[in-house]
Amino acid sequence: MNQYYATVAKGLEATAAKELETLGAKNIRPEFTGVSFTGDQKLLYRVNLWARTIFRVLVPIAEVRCVNREILYKEVKKIPWQDYISPKKTLAVHCTGGNEKLKHTHYTALQIKDAITEQQIQKFRYRSNIDTKNPDILINAHIQKNTCILSLDSSGSSLHQRGYRLAMGFAPLKETLAAALLEMAEYSPDLPFLDPLCGSGTLPLEASLKALNIAPGLFKNKFAFMNWRDFDESTWQDLLLEAKNSQLSELKAMIVGSDRDSEVLSQAHTNAKRCGVADKIKFMKADLSELEPPSAQGIIICNPPYGERLGEVEELGKLYKLLGDIFKQRFTGWTAFILTGNKQLSKQVGLRTSRRIAVYNGPIACTLLKYELY
Ligand SMILES: C[S@@+](CC[C@H](N)C(=O)[O-])C[C@H]1O[C@@H](n2cnc3c(N)ncnc32)[C@H](O)[C@@H]1O
Repeated sequence: MNQYYATVAKGLEATAAKELETLGAKNIRPEFTGVSFTGDQKLLYRVNLWARTIFRVLVPIAEVRCVNREILYKEVKKIPWQDYISPKKTLAVHCTGGNEKLKHTHYTALQIKDAITEQQIQKFRYRSNIDTKNPDILINAHIQKNTCILSLDSSGSSLHQRGYRLAMGFAPLKETLAAALLEMAEYSPDLPFLDPLCGSGTLPLEASLKALNIAPGLFKNKFAFMNWRDFDESTWQDLLLEAKNSQLSELKAMIVGSDRDSEVLSQAHTNAKRCGVADKIKFMKADLSELEPPSAQGIIICNPPYGERLGEVEELGKLYKLLGDIFKQRFTGWTAFILTGNKQLSKQVGLRTSRRIAVYNGPIACTLLKYELY
């Protein structure tokens, strides 16, 4: 059993923990912006391929003292880096956290990189080149008080960058957050799904990937663990085959996205094509005021703009009121969810919430509001 650590967005720890359990992780412990768990190498690959709500999976390799920069340097140099990195591979170090003497993450990352490459020169006479954009091996260093946890980042780039989205509308949701909202709303593929403010389509797209049992990792062709010394190509190929064979060819219930802006809708359509689900999701151009329910019941999830300036907030109040009116007048039998970062605006909906779930959209404290529409 190996120890792993999934990094997640603030507020999504419990949702990610549940997802990891479904994927077969053991000893799951949600922490602040992360979830630690154990499992074998196959689980590590499986999580990278299938997880919808997490950013990265780290594999801790050492914990060293880091009272100051000299001690950190000396301790990092003692780690047998040749077990993990060939000097032929490119390298980058990413640092988070800090303490009294190590305040600047960029500078701390440089110290660690220098310690690793100096060790390589002493042992092999040559060293890894640094590639901060697209390294073969990515080291994560997390400083907390006087301890530095060094991990290998198995994902490389964040798993929220699914690889299907080139086109983005205004204020798109992160794919990981969209997937988490579907979980929080208990979306089930048996129910019709509608996002009436769909923008570039993140929510309908993530709903369709879930409904068709499409592993989000299938769109990514590179994970950092593929450059590791212990990469097991045949296990990975087995998982890919299993994922491809377990996709469903048809939706059980419709998935619809609508928006009044044709430009963002065409982006949504491009994204759907890249996911291979363009013929499955229905995207429609419609202003909220003219929207009719596509079926007798279903689930709505949407994120209207929150507005930052005062004038904007006043204008947006009308949109929130319209949402409430349309829900009440036309969507009887449906369950609706609104994600918003503005309490004042949420009051304009004018309907009684049956649940309020705290969630962060990046740094913005938001609430997912649930309305049962009888
Ligand atoms: C914050 S964005 C949604 C982003 C989307 N979830 C995504 O991930 O791309 C809000 C969307 O609401 C749409 N919108 C605003 N007012 C509308 C209205 N009255 N009718 C229909 N769409 C509207 C905007 O065009 C915009 O695309």
